[in-house]
Amino acid sequence: MNELNIGIIGAGYIGREHARSIRLTASMFGGKVKLAAIADKNLEAAKAVASDYDIPLTTDDVDKILDDPNINVVFSCVPTKFHIDIIRKATKKGKAVFCEKPFAVTLEQAHEVHEILTNSSAPHQVGFVLRYAPTYVALKKILDKQSDNSPLRHISLRDDQKFPISGIQHYTDWRSDVKQAGAGVLIEHGIHDIDLFEHLFGKIKRVSATQRNHHSYEGIEDFIEIRIEFESGQTATMTHMWHDIPAHTSVRSFEIFFNKSLVTLQDYAMHHINVRDQEAEKKYEKNDLFAMLSDEPLFKDISRREDLLFMSDYYAIQDYWFMRNLLSDTKPSPSIYDGLRAFEIAHACYKSARENSDWVEV
Ligand SMILES: NC(=O)c1ccc[n+]([C@@H]2O[C@H](COP(=O)([O-])OP(=O)(O)OC[C@H]3O[C@@H](n4cnc5c(N)ncnc54)[C@H](O)[C@@H]3O)[C@@H](O)[C@H]2O)c1
Repeated sequence: MNELNIGIIGAGYIGREHARSIRLTASMFGGKVKLAAIADKNLEAAKAVASDYDIPLTTDDVDKILDDPNINVVFSCVPTKFHIDIIRKATKKGKAVFCEKPFAVTLEQAHEVHEILTNSSAPHQVGFVLRYAPTYVALKKILDKQSDNSPLRHISLRDDQKFPISGIQHYTDWRSDVKQAGAGVLIEHGIHDIDLFEHLFGKIKRVSATQRNHHSYEGIEDFIEIRIEFESGQTATMTHMWHDIPAHTSVRSFEIFFNKSLVTLQDYAMHHINVRDQEAEKKYEKNDLFAMLSDEPLFKDISRREDLLFMSDYYAIQDYWFMRNLLSDTKPSPSIYDGLRAFEIAHACYKSARENSDWVEV
């Protein structure tokens, strides 16, 4: 693609985040990227984002973006139930699509989205933003180093957020409606971690899960505990919960045990990663992590443009790569293949939870 005229559909939390990220990074592409339009069924929401990020066209009619021949890239940022219609219409018109996760409310719908996107020649990307979070790229480097010294034994993750969405102060009631959200904390938030786990630790072989529903929204689990076995034989446990503790912000807490060392981290912003081994405790501070990453392919160009883009700004880094790949006709990543894989594993967890926590192969 020679230039990108972008339309965002949905001006809520994530639509605003993409508008900010595109506005921030557009100048890195020398005038080839334009943020052209934003649509939301709530026109006031669209207008507010348009005014903050200087977007010329605002509308409450989604088709105005989908039918506009000048717009060749669409970001789908609506509640989960509505992604499929946007993806279908946009790809029919040959537009590139950035689709937020989770992109469907049922497994059948996820397969349908997969089919639409794989049968289309229009490029696409799924919003597994953690793949672009520098902390996890640094974590992978640290883990590779540790595994040279002793084998990986066990991974434990606790991921918690205030219900219905993390420390971000905004209430989105569609997340309590199974018809719009599909399910609860695992599909809405934990799906990021499922994707990240396979990206960091290899292929998952089988899962076993138990879930609970403290808030009593039908079909919306707010607690799920998962046991994971990887094809390598390693094991992991994952706990995801939505709670009611406003003073406690969203935390992803990892403990990764090797035979002779322990790696821990508490957050996905660039804080620090701790490594304890037989000799000492080493704390990789923010600056150590930056130094570790500044020549990595994902961050090499960005680390030299900190005037524009902080290396900790993983949403902006994600969008930068989507635009850069479109402009160089390179396949964006992660794709719907990755999206469907994580979706299927999440649904295997739900199946296990329905069936007495029996192991389910994935
Ligand atoms: N990748 C991430 O980190 C991340 C973070 C948050 C949300 N998400 C995903 O993004 C999607 C949106 O989540 P959100 O937090 O922005 O929700 P939100 O409720 O903040 O925003 C959704 C917006 O869509 C608008 N809308 C609803 N139905 C519409 C329709 N049919 N047509 C046009 N506009 C419509 C609403 O008015 C609202 O402004 C969800 O699929 C969610 O799972 C991803």
